Amino acid sequence: MLALGIETSCDETAAAVVRDGLDIISDVVYTQSDLHCRFGGVVPEIASRMHVEKISLAIEQALDQAGIDGRQVDCIAVTNRPGLLGSLLVGLTAAKMLTLAWGKPIVSVNHVEAHMYAGRMTQPDLEYPAVGLVVSGGHTALYHNTAATEYHYLGGTIDDAAGEAFDKIANLFELGYPGGPLIDRLAAQGDPEAYAFPKSFARENNYKFSFSGLKTAVLYEAMGSPGPRNDELIRSNINGERKADMAASFQKAVIDVLVAKLFYTADRLRVKAVIAGGGVACNSLLRREVEARGRREGYQVIIPPPELCTDNAAMVAGLGACRFAAGQCDDLAQLDAFPRMA
Ligand code: KG4
Ligand code: ZN
Repeated sequence: MLALGIETSCDETAAAVVRDGLDIISDVVYTQSDLHCRFGGVVPEIASRMHVEKISLAIEQALDQAGIDGRQVDCIAVTNRPGLLGSLLVGLTAAKMLTLAWGKPIVSVNHVEAHMYAGRMTQPDLEYPAVGLVVSGGHTALYHNTAATEYHYLGGTIDDAAGEAFDKIANLFELGYPGGPLIDRLAAQGDPEAYAFPKSFARENNYKFSFSGLKTAVLYEAMGSPGPRNDELIRSNINGERKADMAASFQKAVIDVLVAKLFYTADRLRVKAVIAGGGVACNSLLRREVEARGRREGYQVIIPPPELCTDNAAMVAGLGACRFAAGQCDDLAQLDAFPRMA
């Protein structure tokens, strides 16, 4: 069974073909980060325009690389939530048109759930139930995964997402965008114990996260005193070495909280497997710590390879195929896009 996946929820225009919900036959991603870089974050209007420019090409290439004609696909899977509304509508409209043209069923996919489904594509022997942690630029959330198509939200951030915190601190340090990989690289040269930054909710028995206090603590440390952001002051106050130490200490504060919450949840729900997904799951410290603790405590640990952690359409095609197999197709006329989770 062949599924075509389409993903345009944020700043990646992606299309992929997946066989039987697991085997990736083609996987095309056009990233726009160069365009958003100088703004320090994603500009919705630019994102929508770029999706319009690239969507047909991405789909055409995904089909070409899979060596198939569009009429050979069994279903079309498309992200319809959550994300930037203008961006989602580009992918959804393309999917609807192909549905009409080819006479194929359409299946909507929740992007955040797809990030966890990427875990099953990485390790098909994944044993449900599992706990899923999705950490990206827009989300930091814990889920109880009871089956490939069943995701129950447990809790998440009450302010910034983890990836957003990485992006904002990278911006503070004038490193570039997206900030996660740049902080990750800089942190490798610093001392993670140099600064004791706050780790909100780390020891509390709940499913909450908060990163805004940490962000403010790093800002004040970078300036040498509390107050509104002053780039001149930051430049004069921190040299390369201090920057690396701050990056390492900031990264450790974020990852310590994520790891603590993931295993608290897994323990509490008595699952056997843990999955981490989303862009921040590319982080080298997170991957090391989750693997190490999971091994120590006897969990099956699943973290997809980096290209399946960041936004892609393979995970959308995969989850869409499972929904299609379970008879969960959508009505073409009723299907809409939603910026929020539900
Ligand atoms: O899942 P994703 O590609 O897009 C969203 O759905 O948001 O995640 C993007 C986020 C960005 O905030 C980026 O800075 C972060 O993932 N990221 C990382 C790393 N690689 C990407 N954060 C920390 N360490 C990394 N190595
Ligand atoms: Zn994402």
